[in-house]
Amino acid sequence: MEASEPSLSGRTEDTPSSFLSLADWPGPALEDLLSRASELKAGRARGETVRSLEGRSVLLYFAKPSLRTFVTFDVGIAELGGHSVYLPFGQVSIGEREPIEDVARNLSRWCHGIVARTYGHDVLEDLARWGGVPVVNALTDLLHPCQAMADALTIQENGDLRGGRLVYIGDGNNVSHSLIHLAGRMGMKLTVCTPPNYAPDAAIVRRGLELAGSSGGEIHLETDPRTAVKDAAFLYTDVWASMGQEDEAAERRVIFAPYQINRALVGAAPEGVKILHCLPAHRGDEITAEVFESEASLVFDQAENRLHVQKAILERLLA
Ligand code: CP
Ligand code: NVA
Repeated sequence: MEASEPSLSGRTEDTPSSFLSLADWPGPALEDLLSRASELKAGRARGETVRSLEGRSVLLYFAKPSLRTFVTFDVGIAELGGHSVYLPFGQVSIGEREPIEDVARNLSRWCHGIVARTYGHDVLEDLARWGGVPVVNALTDLLHPCQAMADALTIQENGDLRGGRLVYIGDGNNVSHSLIHLAGRMGMKLTVCTPPNYAPDAAIVRRGLELAGSSGGEIHLETDPRTAVKDAAFLYTDVWASMGQEDEAAERRVIFAPYQINRALVGAAPEGVKILHCLPAHRGDEITAEVFESEASLVFDQAENRLHVQKAILERLLA
């Protein structure tokens, strides 16, 4: 079955050529991405074919492990008729075998876009600066914007994106940072609840608040989980020790224990609250198996939605 052309009605002059941070993307452009993702999702369910990336080659570079991000980009590129090239981390060792500016300038002669997961966020910025082809952030220590877009789609499908409060409980990390940008850009109500010394980055919070000032969003920081969940429509958590922080896992397990999403905490939230987790999940740490597997859990919908939003992002940047 043939499918419709991508709708790019919201393409604006100030839409960046890369997808590195939601803070850089205007709210209406993010809205467009969500609509296109929904369109692609529905079309896929009807068996429609889309060839918007035909003739496009996209490099996949992952310096950290990945299940969801890697597979959804690879499948998404194939479904849009493009070609993905997987570059294993050890094959280039960016900055060791060859400086990043040379790697980026080589890649841009062959590939139309780069999807990269790195430790430092500056590596992505350097790839974009030196390569000149669109770069998509597949997670850095600082941000995880593709995840936040899948979260937005999942929230939209299961409630009210702007009306229902999203309450993130756990580490003030990359996932929480992109949720702060998302809330700022899309006018959402967000509470981020962390242990006192694990709050999100102050500059990210400042930027989120500034954006929220124009979009009608609300961003609150909190340290008490029971207070935080009181008006939650969605409860979200992530691992307590992110990739690269494994040696802090034991210490964090003690500090974060009161922040576990469990039956008692869900019970302190309003009736009907839904549960989100970007995955991978550590049952018994940030979330109990009972809550993870409960009817309220949307975690695999979130994971599915990675595919649809990332196809929309790739189309927007490369089609
Ligand atoms: N949520 C997420 O990004 O999963 P992966 O680390 O498996 O890609
Ligand atoms: N905060 C986690 C997210 C994993 C998808 C990490 O960076 O490991």
